[in-house]
Amino acid sequence: MSISKADIGVYGLGTMGSALALNLAENGFRVAVSNREEDWIAPFVQEAGDLSARLVACGSLEELVAAVTPPRNILFMIPSGAPMDAMLDAVLPMLDPGDTVIDGGNADFNDTRRRSDTVAAAGMHFVGMGVSGGETGARHGPSMMVGGSEASWHSLRPILESIAARFDGDPCVAHVGPDGAGHFVKTVHNGIEYADMQMIAEIYGLLRDAAGWDAGRIGGLFQGWNDTELGSFLIEVSAAALQTRDPQTGGPLVDAIVDRAGQKGTGRWTVIEALKMGQSASAIEAAVGARSWSSDSDLRDTASGILSDGALNGEVPDEEALADALLAGRILAHAQGFDILRAGSATFDWGLDPARIAEIWRAGCIIRSALLERFASASRTDPPHGALILAPDLADTLARCLPGLRRVVRSGVALGIPLPALSAALAWYDSLRTARGTTNLIQAQRDFFGAHGFGRRGQEGQFTFDWPPLGQG
Ligand code: 6PG
Repeated sequence: MSISKADIGVYGLGTMGSALALNLAENGFRVAVSNREEDWIAPFVQEAGDLSARLVACGSLEELVAAVTPPRNILFMIPSGAPMDAMLDAVLPMLDPGDTVIDGGNADFNDTRRRSDTVAAAGMHFVGMGVSGGETGARHGPSMMVGGSEASWHSLRPILESIAARFDGDPCVAHVGPDGAGHFVKTVHNGIEYADMQMIAEIYGLLRDAAGWDAGRIGGLFQGWNDTELGSFLIEVSAAALQTRDPQTGGPLVDAIVDRAGQKGTGRWTVIEALKMGQSASAIEAAVGARSWSSDSDLRDTASGILSDGALNGEVPDEEALADALLAGRILAHAQGFDILRAGSATFDWGLDPARIAEIWRAGCIIRSALLERFASASRTDPPHGALILAPDLADTLARCLPGLRRVVRSGVALGIPLPALSAALAWYDSLRTARGTTNLIQAQRDFFGAHGFGRRGQEGQFTFDWPPLGQG
């Protein structure tokens, strides 16, 4: 057993765990490392080069626990779900009161809440921490959304601030709230990520399938957009991906990639949690649904030979309208994400600070973009009903970009090009700005067949009506 004491332990040397361990070592921390497959440990330490001097190889969980200075911080980067529960069963008996277990995976925040209670009952701390930025982020500076107790944040803060991405010097890490708050915020981040990716793919689809542009040309357009208010990591990634050539075919690599998207669950959780709280994250739901539809490629192959398009005359709008549509769609999808954060904060009494969350998303994470600074500012204006799209900057930008969004959605509708996320965002916008909606008829229908009651305009209380029998009205 090693007698060298480490500042922190990292268990799980997969892509994210090993990158975080090296990031910690590079920032001067002594890191105890271990892994379920013991034969991964020595090669990892050997390949760490100069940093290996700050790594303490531990052949087992017991050795890892013994190697860390109490009160211990031990970060687990292992698959979420049952493996984390099994790990807690194994590690809790080895720990002392005051120690902190950190789950840095993409866990369901409901599980994190349950685990927090279990660990607290044993006298220790449990931190559910969202980590975003993929392998490069984890290695050189991720964005981190930290849940858990104030005490655990106090001990983790200096470590996490050292390894986080920085935006104008500000570390992209925050203690967002207790118990499951960190994993909840990460889940919503991923929901926004799904919508952002889908909307970019929809603009690509319109240009590819209706305007006949090749991938490289679309990539060039996106590359230009990256220097505008549309600038974002995902636009940059899309531009680069579209301009990458396939060594096998010599053509664009994206043209060789099967159009079936995977998903690990966090986007879906965002939608499920939104619905559970009586919210509708329709643009995010559309993005999750589009991935689900994409996976049934056999059905789509068959249906494409049977279902007619019924297309109307229409044309693909100019580049300015496309850019406006994407910006408006992205603002609306982000706003839906922030609405879910607000609902979650109220439901679980977390006291989430939307401005700070927007700030820690400005660098390091997958949805980092020029827009996040504007969402941080919008949050500070305290807009009516907390609705960020009512903040002057965002409302003005939407007003400017709405004609573009309408032209793009109209074009997709006319030409038969699916734009589920952009259409959903527009429908939400139009619903919000309709002071007198149409659910008066829904209420009439409900009262008609079920005496569910309705409110009357300008009057207090609930009413019901003796509706005429059908066929005699
Ligand atoms: C991040 C990402 C990451 C996520 C991948 C894949 O913030 O770094 O959100 O955590 O695992 O993006 O997610 P899907 O497989 O669900 O697309």
